[in-house]
This record gives sequence, structure tokens and C-alpha cells, in this order.
Amino acid sequence: MKRTHRPGNHSMCVQPMFLIGTYDENGNANFAPITWLSVTSDGERFLIVVSMFGDKKTRKNVQKTGKMSANLVSVPMLPLADYLGSHSGNDGRKDGFSYAVSKGKRLDVPTLDESPFVYELAVEKSVTVGQSETFFCRPEYVEADEKVSLGEMGSGLDLTMLNPVIYSGDYHSLGRHLGTIGDFLP
Ligand SMILES: Cc1cc2nc3c(=O)[nH]c(=O)nc-3n(C[C@H](O)[C@H](O)[C@H](O)COP(=O)(O)O)c2cc1C
Repeated sequence: MKRTHRPGNHSMCVQPMFLIGTYDENGNANFAPITWLSVTSDGERFLIVVSMFGDKKTRKNVQKTGKMSANLVSVPMLPLADYLGSHSGNDGRKDGFSYAVSKGKRLDVPTLDESPFVYELAVEKSVTVGQSETFFCRPEYVEADEKVSLGEMGSGLDLTMLNPVIYSGDYHSLGRHLGTIGDFLP
């Protein structure tokens, strides 16, 4: 393989696209795409890791409420997600697009009816580095399209059924389901 190269600062990372749902102090729902999202564990529970840059409305809402929903973006939802990422709740309601919102089943967070996979998240801890804040969140409730089986650790879950948008500077969709852990051992 011949590689191209450049020094230093680069952010390529294969990222899932979620719409983070929050309420403001007036009870207005706001959604924004966040792709800096991952998972870790404290040894007892999984923690969903969500990182936000700058002074966006979503970050301010999470600082106030300590809660958010994370709604996986499926390919048909991309026009909505693109719109929500091109506007800030700091400039008023994002009502240029119509979409159905429900209250969370466990937490007081707005969730998107169209999303095939939804987390309700409670912030356990946050860490600020420069202009970014990273929230470590306990998943309090998880919902998935009934076509998909919700394995204990995510194994057995065929991601292609969720048809997620994958981001890495541009939008992509997912290819094939290749198997599970151990399928490739000799
Ligand atoms: C594809 C995509 C991915 C994004 N990922 C992030 C992210 O991971 N973290 C972040 O802070 N902002 C991210 N943004 C930017 C916010 O979505 C954007 O600033 C939005 O307008 C914030 O809205 P709000 O002010 O209503 O929260 C992303 C935007 C797009 C379009």
C-alpha cells in the first residue's frame, strides 16, 4: 500500500450520527446532530460518551437538566438531521421541518419518533477540555425498532437493519453485516 500523509491535526474517525434531544428551561425541545459519541464502562455499567464543542444550545440545555436523548439517525432521516445541524437553537426554534416528538419513557427528555434506536441518558460526569465538554452518561432506557433484537451488550444486533448514517466529514451508509465476535477465529 502506498500511503499519503500530512503532519499533525486530523480528525478522521468513523462516527455514528445521533440527534441529541434536550429541553430548555421553557420546556421547548431542541435537537442537534452529534457524531462525537462513543461508549465506555465504569466496570459495572456502560456509559455513553457524548462530546460537544462551543456554546451550542444542546450543551447549555444538558448543563441545566443533566439529561438528553440520543436518537440514531437512519438514512431516511438525513434531510432532517442536516437541517438540524445547520441551525442553532440559540437563534430560535428549529421549526423549518416537521417531525414527531415524544416524551421519554423514563426520563424527561424529548425523543424522535422516526429514529430506529433511542437512548435516554442521565449525565454522570462531565469533563471540559478547552472549548469542548464531554458528558459521560448512564443509559436509563433503550428503545429499538422491533425488527431488531436488543442483545445484552449489543452483540447479535444487526446494524444494517437500523440503516444508520455514518459520518466522517461526509455522510455514508453502512454495508454488510459480517458476523459476530469469534466468527473469524481459526
Ligand atoms: C454531521 C454533523 C455532525 C456534528 N457533530 C457534532 C459533534 O459531534 N459535536 C458538536 O459539538 N457539534 C457537532 N455538530 C454541530 C452541531 O450539530 C451544530 O452546531 C448545531 O447547529 C447545534 O445546534 P444547537 O445550538 O441547537 O445545539 C455536528 C453537525 C453536523 C451537521
